[in-house]
Amino acid sequence: MKQYLRLLQYIKPYRWRIVQAIICMIVAAAANLYMPWIIKDMIDKVLAEKDMETLNMICIGVIVIFFVRGFFYFGQSYLISHVGQRVVLDIRNALFAKFQRLPVAYFDRHQTGEIMSYIANDVATVQNAMVEKLIDIVTEGAVFIGSLVMMFMLDWQLSLLTLITVPLVGVSMRVFGRMIKNSGAAIQSRLSEFTALMQESLSAERVVKAFGREKFEIERYCKQNEKNFAASMKNVRLTSMLTPTIEFIAAAAATALIWFGGKEVVDGRITAGTLVAFLTYAVNMSNPLKRLSRAYAGIQQALAGAERVFGVLDLDEPITDRPGALTLPPASGRVRVEDVSFAYNEGVPALSHVSLAAEPGQMIAFVGPSGAGKSTIANLIPRFYDVDSGSILIDGHDIRDVTIDSLRAQIGIVPQETMLFSASVRENIRYGRLDATDEEIEAAARDANAHDFIMALPEGYDTRIGERGLMLSGGQRQRLAIARAILKDPQILILDEATSALDTESEKIVQAALDRLMVGRTSFVVAHRLSTIFGADQIYVIDHGEIREHGTHEELLAAKGLYAELYALQFKK
Ligand SMILES: Nc1ncnc2c1ncn2[C@@H]1O[C@H](COP(=O)(O)OP(=O)(O)OP(=O)(O)O)[C@@H](O)[C@H]1O
Ligand SMILES: [Mg+2]
Repeated sequence: MKQYLRLLQYIKPYRWRIVQAIICMIVAAAANLYMPWIIKDMIDKVLAEKDMETLNMICIGVIVIFFVRGFFYFGQSYLISHVGQRVVLDIRNALFAKFQRLPVAYFDRHQTGEIMSYIANDVATVQNAMVEKLIDIVTEGAVFIGSLVMMFMLDWQLSLLTLITVPLVGVSMRVFGRMIKNSGAAIQSRLSEFTALMQESLSAERVVKAFGREKFEIERYCKQNEKNFAASMKNVRLTSMLTPTIEFIAAAAATALIWFGGKEVVDGRITAGTLVAFLTYAVNMSNPLKRLSRAYAGIQQALAGAERVFGVLDLDEPITDRPGALTLPPASGRVRVEDVSFAYNEGVPALSHVSLAAEPGQMIAFVGPSGAGKSTIANLIPRFYDVDSGSILIDGHDIRDVTIDSLRAQIGIVPQETMLFSASVRENIRYGRLDATDEEIEAAARDANAHDFIMALPEGYDTRIGERGLMLSGGQRQRLAIARAILKDPQILILDEATSALDTESEKIVQAALDRLMVGRTSFVVAHRLSTIFGADQIYVIDHGEIREHGTHEELLAAKGLYAELYALQFKK
């Protein structure tokens, strides 16, 4: 109930449309309710008294009623659907915005497909609840109450008899409702696993092909699909059982009505027409009852989806602007890391008591074995994660005291694996600064040593590059990433193994572009190949999350420590 009320909050902005829809609905339902009266007149007046005039009136009445009903039915259905679709759109927007605000750590722990499933599948069930089922509940509820009122007007004693069904129906709805909701939750989580599997398997298509694992993937997919099927069928069993149960209760009540009503006609207390009209209402009433039970089942199932959606919307956003956070003024690039400790997972420290200082314009290099924590330091500076203890300062401001936007605006990152969007080369570079002119984009591309190869593409800067830019080589993609960073013109640069995936030839080109990019900026460079960092102002040697040594290339060589070992290892030949 709480979940449903929360869903209804989303309807609030559209309440006027709902009011219009309800008016349409009432008119349409009223037209419906008039039919049994016509039948009563037909039997009692036309058939019993052979009254032609009433027959004519009835026929005209039927046509008019159906026309009016059709017109208002359209209005009601159109308006409610409009609201339903708008609400779903609003929820989807809210959900997507929420995902944009969630920290990197959330994406570490959830598969892309699973996240997509929230937006696609779970919101779709909400749409079901909001649109179709809500209309059903309201219309059928109105028809139900209307029929009941009409029945009381015809014969209150028989009506009371009808009411004994109410508690019976209530109990069965409750029992089934709970089970249906649980099975709905099961469906949604199977569906999310299914989407995740599909997304992962399709995006890893190259790995699948490389290992000849097509059959394996097909089997995995089919198995998950079977699980989906089983979850859906459980739900189908429950919802299909609910309707007959309700119908049986209604039929039992109808039998009682026929018996008592028939007896009253035999005793001459009511006319045959009244009984037939009464029974018509009773049938009229059982239909909405049936549909109400179906709508109720649908809503229970949808609530399972809504619960998942609200679960996401209610997640903490640990990395947000502090109240009163200030805008980081254009930084000079002085960065201080003070006694920082950090763990991705509690109890498994990735960094312990790391301290370092970078002066404006310096090049700071991180070296050390794989898994040492080099990328982790790089992740903490733009607040992809927050430190557990200690602090990071830029120009004396704790990065947690400034707005995230202003912090990240001054940090450029060239990652190891470049993500390109399926858009033109120009648009991909422009991602670095959305208001950049074409000339600025071209200048950035020249600085990144990318201009020549871009011009050689079929449509130059307007060439569309595919999903992930697969049409480009690793070195070309890297140069686009560098052009993007140049365009952003940040004061602080983070280059995490920006050249490690490249061969010597393209590494040279990319390195030249990077060297140009680093001039005048504080740069943090993670590199396996020591040759790229000989010129660094400071080299930090990191091992097991701790800083082991620190100094320039010459100082570290002279110290004959871990760095000297690494150096000897790489340059033995
Ligand atoms: N997102 C994450 N979630 C949990 N643990 C992580 C995550 N990223 C890294 N780690 C762990 O933290 C430790 C440090 O990883 P990090 O990526 O900083 O290493 P690195 O020095 O950059 O290594 P490499 O040279 O191989 O890139 C590793 O033990 C790694 O398993
Ligand atoms: Mg790394």
